[in-house]
Amino acid sequence: MSRIAYVDGQYVPHGEASVHIEDRGYQFADGVYEVVAVCAGRRVDDERHFARLERSLGELEIPMPMSRRALAVVMDEVLRRNRVQDGIIYLQITRGQAPRDHAWSDSSNPVMTITARRQSPPDDALARRGVQVITLPDQRWKRNDIKAVSLLANIMGKSRARAAGAYEAWLIDDNDLVTEGTSTTAWIVSDGGNMVTRPLDEAILGGVTRAALIDIARQAGKIVEERAFSRAEAMAAREAFLTSTTAYVLAITSIDGNEIGDGRPGPVTEDLLERYRRHVSGNTF
Ligand code: PDD
Repeated sequence: MSRIAYVDGQYVPHGEASVHIEDRGYQFADGVYEVVAVCAGRRVDDERHFARLERSLGELEIPMPMSRRALAVVMDEVLRRNRVQDGIIYLQITRGQAPRDHAWSDSSNPVMTITARRQSPPDDALARRGVQVITLPDQRWKRNDIKAVSLLANIMGKSRARAAGAYEAWLIDDNDLVTEGTSTTAWIVSDGGNMVTRPLDEAILGGVTRAALIDIARQAGKIVEERAFSRAEAMAAREAFLTSTTAYVLAITSIDGNEIGDGRPGPVTEDLLERYRRHVSGNTF
């Protein structure tokens, strides 16, 4: 079956989908994106994704190209045309095409592209085994709350993690505090059994999975501490895990080669994964 992409108002074969060479997304990474999970044909946490998209665009003064309702129709049409029941939607909005000039003008129109692909939910064997992370200095810019397509430091970090045989790199700020992973939110479980994750600020992306998991956990009576934690605290934590749209809740069994807990996924992480899976499949919380 041929894949279909949405490009600036048209549904086109994936192989022919293209934008102009002077699109500011191509020349300056002047754009934002979202990755939305799809489970049994339903977009997971779509309101949160819309809200974050609007916020990212607003911070960059890029107009939202269409209403939420119209955008939902286009996303569902891309899913339908690609026969995606379980998978992901990738959506990107750039400031559009303009003669190259660092400063933007109001004359360009935003260009939106959407693709969808089938993807199985995260592998259960991986969840039961857990993953390793390394740490690296956080070399990104200072507005990581914006889900911008400029991801050079993130892709360098992820590639270094892969090369080291790790799943992810946790990024460390100048105060030795963990910000987040290159494409995931960082969490630990404290001595008292509480979940700990960095508070929302400009240093991290406000993860949709993070927000959903905080709601799920609090409704289950668990305590979530939104506070920064250091690399040293993470190393000594009872459990550590990461979250994202595509990874769900994934246990971390070592950081820079140091075992976390007994080196296996811990009970808090396993319980949260179960709850999150129920949330994704529609049996909310
Ligand atoms: N990554 N932090 C960063 C830097 C991210 O890029 C992401 C998401 C997250 C987790 O956010 P969420 O829970 O909304 O997926 C945290 C996406 C999946 C990506 O770039 O593919």
